[in-house]
Amino acid sequence: MNVLLIGSGGREHAIANALAKSPRLAQLYVAPGNAGTAEVGQNVALDAADHGAVVDYCIRRDIGLVVIGPEQPLVAGLVDCLEARGVPVFGPAKAAARLEGSKGFAKDLCRAHGVPTAAYERFDDEDAALRHVRAKGAPIVVKADGLASGKGVVVAASVAEAERAVKGMFGGAFGKSRGEVVIEDMLAGEEASFFVLCDGRRAMPFASAQDHKRVGDGDTGPNTGGMGAYSPAPAVTPEIEAQVMRQIVEPTLAAMRGSGCPFKGVLFAGLMLTSDGPKLIEFNVRFGDPEAQAMLPRLEDDLLELMLAAAAGALPERPIRLSPQTALTVVLAAQNYPGAPLTGTEIRHVERASALQGVIVTHAGTRREGARLIASGGRVLNVTALADSVSEAQRLAYRGVDAIDWPGGFCRRDIGWRAAAREAKVAAS
Ligand code: AMP
Ligand code: GLY
Repeated sequence: MNVLLIGSGGREHAIANALAKSPRLAQLYVAPGNAGTAEVGQNVALDAADHGAVVDYCIRRDIGLVVIGPEQPLVAGLVDCLEARGVPVFGPAKAAARLEGSKGFAKDLCRAHGVPTAAYERFDDEDAALRHVRAKGAPIVVKADGLASGKGVVVAASVAEAERAVKGMFGGAFGKSRGEVVIEDMLAGEEASFFVLCDGRRAMPFASAQDHKRVGDGDTGPNTGGMGAYSPAPAVTPEIEAQVMRQIVEPTLAAMRGSGCPFKGVLFAGLMLTSDGPKLIEFNVRFGDPEAQAMLPRLEDDLLELMLAAAAGALPERPIRLSPQTALTVVLAAQNYPGAPLTGTEIRHVERASALQGVIVTHAGTRREGARLIASGGRVLNVTALADSVSEAQRLAYRGVDAIDWPGGFCRRDIGWRAAAREAKVAAS
């Protein structure tokens, strides 16, 4: 079967690697892809925003499944256009992608169906939002309603900061939020993510993960798309997983089906593990990046079969086959990321990292110039290591990082610190 994968990040290279293991795969096309996906499939210059062009390409190339990595094409309704022309696709339709595309929609669904989440109010009027912030006081969380590439959330420590956030959002500072904000209580606890595959009816638990959003060691500095991740997240115990399925995932899927927009694809629940149990911070409707680079190497199942089954509404009723090992991913970013990254620099010796037993390097913002590998984006490479413990995976991943010669890049040196500290505490007791 021919497969078209949409996207160009580390997540998509990790998905491509997993799909390539399937005996059912004939040709993998990746649009637009990167230097890493070009080693697994064929990169094609297709614009995912041009739905008509994507549909035509699928028909011309006899594509048996389209897999959509990032959120923008899902929220824009690419799935609907493909399905209308009979092209099978793994990912939610536009109406179901509102779980990520509109924070207000997701919060209203939680409220109506008793899904545990922070108490909130929605505002489409700036003055009313400012009055609410002043009445509630800080800390308080201000969120732009629409997609904002991870920049639409301000956890404000003071009323003044919250006011600035409200004014910025109504001023359009965070992209197309349609002038609506959600203001919610701050939740305290440890953050973790949980991923499930969905077929419109039921959910198959996939894996837990934790990522590191801040650019600097010790979780300092500005937010990024993610500087590293590991899976599983030891904080997500089997009891917490069962609670997340029962209280968050299952009611959400039932609500979506009940309102005529069944959810198919990956549902990514961002969680706060509070003293009062797990609460939903937000939903995403796709794999995380870099969480996918950590989770997918643990998969001992046929990803293509699972995605086809999900697309057809027929996921198997069995647990997913997943390695119990820990996978830990360190992101290498171009200097100055998350600001305007320094691009065009040469990266050498990636093969020395990949040659290490248990190490996998996935590409994000890379391209080839002849034989040379060149950085072409903010997040550029991901070094993932699989091992029997978090601390071993951490050591191995950094051995991989140190084998790569790239003066134009940097990484955090402490990915996995929380889980490694937990592991050390258990070992000492
Ligand atoms: P997002 O950019 O939407 O992935 O979320 C940004 C981050 O904001 C989350 O990962 C949390 O760290 C934080 N956050 C969002 N909502 C809350 C909340 N209600 N309480 C505490 N932190 C939050
Ligand atoms: N790493 C967080 C995300 O993919 O949204």
